[in-house]
Order: sequence, then C-alpha cells, then structure tokens
Amino acid sequence: MEELRDRTVWKSDPHTQVKHLVYRHYLQCWMGKILQRFPEATIVDAFSGPGIYTDGPPGSPVVVAKTFLEHTAYQRFGRLNLVCLEERADRVEELQRQFAKLPRSPQLQVTVQPPGTFAEQQPRLSALAHRGRAETPVLWLVDPFDLKSAPFSLIRQCLAGRRDEVLFTLFTNELHRFCQRENFDKTMTPYFGGDHWRAAVAERRAGSRKEAFAAAYQQGLKSQDLFTGSFGIKISNQSARYHLILATHSDAGLKCWAPVTWKLDSYSGQGASADTADALSLFDEASVVDRLDVALRAHAGTEQRWETLSSQAARLNHMDKHLRQVLDNLAVQGLAFRVDPVRARSAWPEGCTVRFYAPGDVADEAS
Ligand SMILES: C[S@@+](CC[C@H](N)C(=O)[O-])C[C@H]1O[C@@H](n2cnc3c(N)ncnc32)[C@H](O)[C@@H]1O
Repeated sequence: MEELRDRTVWKSDPHTQVKHLVYRHYLQCWMGKILQRFPEATIVDAFSGPGIYTDGPPGSPVVVAKTFLEHTAYQRFGRLNLVCLEERADRVEELQRQFAKLPRSPQLQVTVQPPGTFAEQQPRLSALAHRGRAETPVLWLVDPFDLKSAPFSLIRQCLAGRRDEVLFTLFTNELHRFCQRENFDKTMTPYFGGDHWRAAVAERRAGSRKEAFAAAYQQGLKSQDLFTGSFGIKISNQSARYHLILATHSDAGLKCWAPVTWKLDSYSGQGASADTADALSLFDEASVVDRLDVALRAHAGTEQRWETLSSQAARLNHMDKHLRQVLDNLAVQGLAFRVDPVRARSAWPEGCTVRFYAPGDVADEAS
C-alpha cells in the first residue's frame, strides 16, 4: 500500500475497474442530460491522479474525457470544462502527458491545475468551475487516498451551488477497521460532519457495519436537504472496500444514479455482496421492489401524478421500469388505476395520473 502511494503511477485493481465502470455509466447519463440542456457545465476531478495505471487502463480524468468524446450525443452537447487537481507534481506532469495523447475538441476544455491540495484549492476550483455563474452545473469527483483530505465540511462547500453534485469515495473498509481505535473519533467526526457515525459501530458483521457507515454518511447529507445514492464497490463475495456516494440537490439528479447501480448489480441496485445476493434469492425477483410497493400502497385514497411517483421511485433507487412493474402488480389487485389519460398506448405513460386504493376498498362487502 505504501509503495502504491509512492510511485508516480501505480497498478490498477479490480475495485478501480468497478469504480470506473460506475463513473462511466453515470457520466454517460449525466452528460446526456446536462450537456444537452445547458450551454456549459464543469466536472472537477479533485484527486485526479496521473491519468494512467502501469498496466494500461486510463485514470479517472481520462475516463471522463473519453466518455465525453465517445458519447453518441456528443454533437449536440454544450461545452464541458474538465478541471483537474492533483497534489503531486510528478503525477500532474504525467497527467498532462496523458491528455496530450487525446484528440482535441473545441467542446472540451481541459485544465490541469498546478500541484495543490483540495482543502486549499477548493474555493478557487469552485470559482473556476462555475465561471461566474452560480447556476452552472458542476459535478465534483472526490476520490482521495485517505479520510483526512476530504472532511464533510469540504464536501458541503462543493455543494454550495444549486446545480453542484458530488460523487465521493467513502472509505467504508477503513471506517469499519479503525472505528474502535483510540482517538480515531477525531478523524471520524469531521469526516461525517457529526457523530451520527457512532450508531454504525454497534453492527458486528463487517458487511453490515460498512453498509451502516454508508447509510450514516447519507443520513448526514439528507439532513442538509440533499438527495443521495450509494453503491458498494466490492468484488465477488467480499464485503465492500469502499462506497461511492452521490450527493445532489434535486431528485432529478438521482435519475441517473438508479440505472447505474441497477446495471452494475442486478440484485438490489445497491452493490449486493454474495451474502445479500443469497438472501435475496430466497425470494422471487419481485422482492427487490418491495420498498417501492410499500411506498405506493401508502398513497391509498389519493391521486398522484406520474412525475411525483417517478421522483419517489428515484429516491428509493428505482427506475421507471420498476415503477411500472409495481403499478402493474397493484393494478391486478385493483389497488391502482390510471385515471388519466383514458386512452393510451401503454398502461403507465409519462404524464399520467394514478388513483390508489386500499385493500379494504377492494374487499367484497357481501363476504
Ligand atoms: C485514489 S487516487 C486518484 C485516482 C483517480 N481518481 C482515478 O480514479 O484514476 C488519489 C490521488 O489524489 C492525490 N492526492 C492526495 N491527497 C491530495 C489532496 N489533498 N489534494 C489533491 N490531491 C491529493 C494523490 O496523489 C493521488 O494521486
């Protein structure tokens, strides 16, 4: 591990590959939505690394640039500013070499900052990223090597603009291993922005404790009125090494997150490990949409617009296709009806209105 931190360029590992897959899927969707709506947006890769691994794969800043240049809707995109920060001069130099190999595009402006640390540079990066307009969409990639260089206060700072989003690497393995060490609370509390992490320590099993830390971090974000998604980066049957946490100001921001996690994990959309996967396979496939089923049943006695239901599904990390699946199931039981439009090509078109009933409303009074 020490060696890995010392060399300019180091070897990739399967966890990095999964992390980059999540980045790629998320960026594909984010770029498709944001860059076709806004004339300009920024991605800040705040812990960019050297842009390459010794065994060949590209590093995150190159992954971002390539996802942009290879995007099928690229011709219709506004401009993307990619701002990179890296602490070490040798890695900054290597990153510049890697960018020099990429094709140039007038729509992609890459700036590699002089070597610097995130804590010191964040205000300057933020000004650069927003380009004088607070409403410029900015996606921050925050992927450090340790817990100390990205405390919660800095993450909050990255979310100051109303279209700022953060994709953050949460070190759940370290949290799990060191949380009971003497004095480690002095690291944990600023990392979480409070001591709500303490509840997770009670979890005994590694997997559940790591999930509890991820949930605690998300709770901290939610208490600031942010929307959040999470994905455990794990290989085969091991528990997560770290989690990727998305923080965004609107539930529309989550619309790109659910499909990513479902694509990478067909079990639960949450980065299931072998043990959670086993537990799920005891039930039929529909069990994964249980939370959504419960949430929709709570609408009994009311009419809801499609947009509301779709946002609600996104907050529960479900896609519209899951929403339609649950509505189908409720409709069969007489608990959900499309009341508008009367005629449509499909059962639950976008823009429709749905009326919900309780099982008691359906019960045959004569029986
Ligand atoms: C986990 S690596 C980044 C890997 C890269 N995001 C990727 O996915 O290919 C973390 C990088 O952040 C750099 N770094 C460490 N502390 C930093 C700080 N406080 N500010 C900026 N960069 C830092 C390290 O030198 C290292 O290259």
